[in-house]
Formats: sequence, C-alpha cells, structure tokens
Amino acid sequence: MKKRLTTAGTVLMVGALIWVASGFYGCILLEGVLVQGGLLYDKWWSVNSGTAPTTDHSLWSTRPDTTSNTRTGSDTWRCKECHGWDYMGVDGAYSSGSHKTGFDGIFDSTKTAAELTALFKAGDHDFSSQLSDQDIADVVAFITGGQIDMSEYIDLSTKEANGDETEGETLYTAQCLSCHGADGKTIDFCDGGGVGCSYCTIGY
Ligand code: HEC
Ligand code: HEC
Repeated sequence: MKKRLTTAGTVLMVGALIWVASGFYGCILLEGVLVQGGLLYDKWWSVNSGTAPTTDHSLWSTRPDTTSNTRTGSDTWRCKECHGWDYMGVDGAYSSGSHKTGFDGIFDSTKTAAELTALFKAGDHDFSSQLSDQDIADVVAFITGGQIDMSEYIDLSTKEANGDETEGETLYTAQCLSCHGADGKTIDFCDGGGVGCSYCTIGY
C-alpha cells in the first residue's frame, strides 16, 4: 500500500513538474523581448527573415498628408514610417519633411497588451501574415515597456543630439574605446561599416 501511494505520488510529482515546466516554457515563448520588438518596429523583415512587401500597405493611401512622403512599396510597411522613429508620428520628427504622413504616433497609446495583440491580428492593421505570434508579442512588449522619450536625447526638429560632443568624446575614450576602438570599428556589426565581420553571430 505504501509503495503504491509512493508510486502514485511520484507520477503526480512528475506530472506537476511537466505541467509547471511547460507553463514556464510557454511563458518564455509568449513574453516579448523588448530589443527584438524595437528592431521589428524599425524594419520587421530585416530581423524575422520575412519578405519585404512590394505593394503599398492598405493604410498608406489613407495618410492625412499624401504629398510630403511619396515612398511606395516596402517602406510603407515599416511601423516607423507611419508612426515615426521617435514614436510621435505627426507630433515629432516627422511633423514635416519627406517622411511626414500625418499619422499619429504611438507614444501616448493607452492600449493594453491584449488590445494591442488584437490590433495586430485583425482589420486594416493586421500584421499576422507578416509577424509571427512571437514577433507580435515582442512588438507589444516594446510598445508597452520599451518606448523612451527621444526628445530627451535628440532635438526632434533639428535631428541633432542634445548632448555635448566634447563631453561625449571624453566619456567614450574612458569607457568605450577599449572595446570599440578609436574609430568605433573594432567590433564589426556586419552593417557595412566595420573591418571584417568578426563579430557576426546573429545576423547583423
Ligand atoms: C501604413 C501606415 C501604418 C503602418 C505601416 C503601421 N501603422 Fe500602426 N496605425 C496606423 C493607423 C492609421 C492607426 C490608427 C488605427 C487604425 O486605423 O487601424 C494605427 C494604430 C496603431 C496603434 C494604436 C495606437 C493607439 O493607441 O491608438 C499602434 C500601437 C500601432 N499602430 C503600432 C504599429 C506597429 C507596431 C506597426 C508595425 C508592425 C504599425 N503600427 C504599422 C498606421 C500604420
Ligand atoms: C567590454 C567591451 C565593451 C565596452 C566597454 C563597450 N561595449 Fe559596446 N558593445 C560591445 C559588444 C560585445 C557589443 C555587441 C553586443 C551585442 O550585439 O549583443 C556592443 C554593442 C554596442 C552597440 C550596438 C552596435 C550595433 O550596431 O548593434 C553600441 C552602439 C555600443 N556598443 C556602444 C558602446 C558605448 C557608447 C560604450 C561606452 C559607454 C560601449 N559600447 C562600451 C562591447 C563593449
């Protein structure tokens, strides 16, 4: 009797462990990754092995200003093209110039993670053929927890950094030069600006 109970207990315990482990694994899969979300926001097909669209996004023709930004095709599918690299849309760096669309930004979005997930899976803002569930989770994580107020670092009208160049160089020399080198090229990110792509591990 004692032995049977122990066996049953063991089965229960193993079962519970598998249940906890699978729940934990599921949690890891669905929990978005901020950095990845930011990269997807910039140009999703360059980070998720997707195919750059050739036709215009269906919302592109509805942009309030159709004359300033005359881009077509893949550019019209970049989140940042419509909402801005500063997430401020028409209220930020894209308030004028050749990137202006007149679309709103997403910086002040009050949508919950569930509402955002739904937004990317249906209607005219449906990205489910372009973004996997994990991609969408990453983008949602970025929107809810990764956006920063870019105007603290960059003057959104001149696009110049707010910081002091000389002070920046002093800091760079003291804290960054040992790894990145005097010209910033010692670690090669395979983006065409380096010296031999030695650091290339995740497809920069
Ligand atoms: C072609 C332009 C365009 C592109 C590309 C685009 N959006 Fe949008 N987005 C819109 C418009 C227009 C709305 C307003 C709601 C609607 O019409 O669906 C919107 C709404 C949103 C909202 C809701 C804001 C709120 O709280 O009201 C978020 C968040 C958002 N977009 C994020 C993204 C992300 C992330 C991507 C890229 C995966 C993206 N958008 C790509 C045009 C675009
Ligand atoms: C100990 C070595 C080390 C130091 C010190 C260091 N970095 Fe880095 N840096 C790296 C490595 C390694 C990466 C690549 C990390 C990755 O891709 O996961 C990186 C990535 C970066 C990137 C991203 C480049 C890209 O295109 O993806 C920037 C920007 C950067 N570092 C700036 C700085 C600055 C500014 C400092 C000083 C405040 C600094 N780093 C100090 C090693 C260092």
